[in-house]
Amino acid sequence: MKELSQVADEIAACTACALSRSRTRTVPGEGPDDPSLLFVGEAPGWHEDQQGRPFVGPAGRFLEELLASIGLKRDQVWIGNIVKCRPPDNRDPLPDEISACAHFLERQIALLRPKVLVTLGRYSLARFFPGESISRAHGRPKKQQGIIYFAMYHPAAALHQPSLRRTIEEDMKRIPALLESWDRIAEAQPEEPPVKQLTLF
Ligand code: URA
Repeated sequence: MKELSQVADEIAACTACALSRSRTRTVPGEGPDDPSLLFVGEAPGWHEDQQGRPFVGPAGRFLEELLASIGLKRDQVWIGNIVKCRPPDNRDPLPDEISACAHFLERQIALLRPKVLVTLGRYSLARFFPGESISRAHGRPKKQQGIIYFAMYHPAAALHQPSLRRTIEEDMKRIPALLESWDRIAEAQPEEPPVKQLTLF
């Protein structure tokens, strides 16, 4: 899609925050132009900064395993991040970096129009579930303006904590039912914005 590659070009040229000075490559996100499922992580790490692609390190391998557990390959979903450049030494992104970058993700979501948007990690959670804690919000979908939002733990955290690993695996297994419920409502009310009007959960 032309508009999506235009956003990627703008990201590549962006100097709105200090991360632009330390990055090797920008990581705009990737996937099909019309994804049902969109994952939003936190920020690129070392591997992502080298390759310009999201989730290509150990957390990405785990994300691919999780996707395989529901019969999906990574090229069937769209994967992006809250910030598009790697914070030095993989530190947490700062508030001004997050806000300087926010409009890119907003435009990407508006163009991609996913059925289900999955947040991975706390910065993504804070953006879509403001004021919520991950322990309370994970696995509890909420619907807003035609999109089902679903919070999950970050795969990197779950990789190192066996109890979280099980939780993230279980949360991932709920995604096919969310996609189906979105389709059911769209079929029942083709003229209406799907998901908005019926109580599903
Ligand atoms: N962690 C993230 O949040 N995003 C990536 O792209 C890689 C690791």
